[in-house]
Amino acid sequence: MKCKYNKKVGDGRMADMERLQKVIAHAGIASRRKAEKLILDGKVTVNGKVVTELGTKVGKNDDVEVEGVPIDKEEPVYYLLYKPRGVISSVSDDKGRKVVTDFLPDVQERIFPIGRLDYDTSGLILLTNDGEFANQLMHPSHEVDKVYIAKTKGIPSKEQLKQLKKGMTVDGEYLKAVHAKINSTDTKKNTAIVQIILHEGKNRQVRRMFESLGFPVDKLKRERYGSLDLKGMNAGDFRPLKPYEVKQLRALAEKNVE
Ligand code: URA
Repeated sequence: MKCKYNKKVGDGRMADMERLQKVIAHAGIASRRKAEKLILDGKVTVNGKVVTELGTKVGKNDDVEVEGVPIDKEEPVYYLLYKPRGVISSVSDDKGRKVVTDFLPDVQERIFPIGRLDYDTSGLILLTNDGEFANQLMHPSHEVDKVYIAKTKGIPSKEQLKQLKKGMTVDGEYLKAVHAKINSTDTKKNTAIVQIILHEGKNRQVRRMFESLGFPVDKLKRERYGSLDLKGMNAGDFRPLKPYEVKQLRALAEKNVE
């Protein structure tokens, strides 16, 4: 088949072929932009030949190497995990602590978590081997709702909740919530259960925001991510995403691009 714009490499049928930068991004090696730079810098070979043309298409039978390391052409997979507290959002830990991938021992693909939850935070975390999908979702301009339930020591006032939505600078970093409301309070124990929604995913963002107002967070759980929630799941459970759920997340991320 003739293709006007793209140089074809290898013997794959054009219909099954993908742009080289997309294949590299899907393998979880780099974002698409970084993949493009790797190609332009001459770090990528296809079937042993350096390829520096961004339009190049490759098929399943082509051998792609990035800096001399072959990439795995795995099918993309997507999982949702209800992360318990006391687990690292990583694929390995040099201190031997439990990591999120320990909960999916039979998954053969090289999955990694999309973003992170703190060691002491429980809740919804996605895992995939699709680097491009992960980058899309993590970009703050994509405005995917992340809904957290925080148990705070002390009870924030309405004004203080407004402050979370107005934004604040903590340790030189501007942090902002999309929404914050009190779900319940315990005046005897002087604690509150607060729902807070973020679009950003900055380091320890919820804890730092509450702490800066004088309310240490005792417990934190992410109960929703975009269109997904934890209904019917217990801590430690995982499930594959349904194709329509992946589509919905992609649409969410794409819709909100600035
Ligand atoms: N905000 C936090 O403080 N911790 C998390 O794990 C996620 C958001």
